[in-house]
Amino acid sequence: MSNPSSRRASHSSGGPSRRPSIDPSRLVPMDKVTHVGGTDNFNVVFIGAGNIMFGSDEGPWNHSFRLEHKLGRRLKVVALIDPATERAISVLKMKCDSFVVSAYQDTRVFKTFDDFVRNMTPKDRPRIIVIGSPPMFRGSTQPGRDIELQILKHFPGVAIFVEKPIATGPQEEIDDGFKIAKMIDESNTICSVGYMLRYLKAVQMMKKIIDENQLTVMSTIARYACAYEAISKPDWWDKAKSYGPIIEQGTHFCDLSRYFGGEIDIASVQAHSLEWDENAGRLSKMTIDESEIPPERRIPRVTAATWKYDSGAVGSFTHIVALQGRNYSCEFEVYADGYQLKLVNPYVLPVLYIRKPGDDNETVVRFADDDPFFSEISNLIDITEDIEEDPEASQILSTYADAVRTYEFTWAIRKASEKSRVTKLKASTESARAQKAES
Ligand SMILES: NC(=O)c1ccc[n+]([C@@H]2O[C@H](COP(=O)([O-])OP(=O)(O)OC[C@H]3O[C@@H](n4cnc5c(N)ncnc54)[C@H](O)[C@@H]3O)[C@@H](O)[C@H]2O)c1
Repeated sequence: MSNPSSRRASHSSGGPSRRPSIDPSRLVPMDKVTHVGGTDNFNVVFIGAGNIMFGSDEGPWNHSFRLEHKLGRRLKVVALIDPATERAISVLKMKCDSFVVSAYQDTRVFKTFDDFVRNMTPKDRPRIIVIGSPPMFRGSTQPGRDIELQILKHFPGVAIFVEKPIATGPQEEIDDGFKIAKMIDESNTICSVGYMLRYLKAVQMMKKIIDENQLTVMSTIARYACAYEAISKPDWWDKAKSYGPIIEQGTHFCDLSRYFGGEIDIASVQAHSLEWDENAGRLSKMTIDESEIPPERRIPRVTAATWKYDSGAVGSFTHIVALQGRNYSCEFEVYADGYQLKLVNPYVLPVLYIRKPGDDNETVVRFADDDPFFSEISNLIDITEDIEEDPEASQILSTYADAVRTYEFTWAIRKASEKSRVTKLKASTESARAQKAES
């Protein structure tokens, strides 16, 4: 058997194109695989009983569903921790009324992680703890927001899955994230972060093309236009709660940019925004009442950023809150000498447009029935079980340390755009003053 820790990806594992990757042919949809082998119980603890864990009509995410398919009858959810106990009880009831009852019939609901620790029996000891609570409760060393530290303390050696972003908190606390990453690394804890786009077959095919042709990435260009009409969570529109659309949502594409471009020269990040109070920033189909959010906390409608990678390559990202309806419009391009790799519609039906030397036409590859949410869970379970003989087989593509760097990067974009706005407002005020003085 191979050592699972040797298969955990490391953020320090070489340059951009040498980052951990998986052969795309190994990324198999849920209905094409059988449950992982074995007969012993596989205990899991869920933290958070919300959409990411149990699904919603907002998107395809639903970790419980993927774990049920991966582990079959071995899955035992020993605890569901959520201060909203009614929500937890209601989702458990639905599970117990269905054919997956064996995983949930003994699940106990707790308001807090401490309650679980105090009341658990040795047979409840989890193999994996899945963190799907809101990011404001994690990624920090402050009591109440330090769930990772609590897990490391009470369950050393237990694998962790944590959703993106690793935190939403003040910029000064980013260092806490790096401290937590160090503790996770030093304790050899298996830990995967939910940047599931890395597990897309299309993304892994892009990696393969780069690796096989020994390409050096020259530029990444990312564009993420969300369908704002479908976003009805008031917190999302409030910078004090979600920390804004780059940190909360654009983070997926910032992470992809880093996955292909490598580390970012944070000091080089520049950005501009179109704000809610500018004429072009007016939206007609918001489903929340923005007047209830204090003006200084309202989110930008457009954020456009550019930066240098440490490699010298140049990256750009535009996040746009403009579309109505339900589907997002997202594209991600990578350029290298002779090559253009363009990923379109990664959330709904990923399509990869490949242009290579020797042919000005693009080759189009469509990826029907790909399920990156399943692949990220499947890889984590395989590594936790250490079942694969082949060291290349399973990989964690997003480590905690790597995800902290993405978080730091998204904060840098937000800060740069706010700085540009202050500069512009100052210039406008000065020019108005000058005009008044002249007249
Ligand atoms: N990877 C993806 O595509 C994706 C998609 C959706 C959500 N997410 C992420 O998942 C996380 C949760 O999002 P969601 O949509 O499920 O939110 P949600 O609001 O639907 O659910 C969060 C749940 O956590 C509970 N909670 C609050 N404080 C808690 C605490 N201290 N401990 C335990 N539970 C607590 C809430 O009561 C709620 O039931 C966020 O980080 C979000 O960004 C990722």
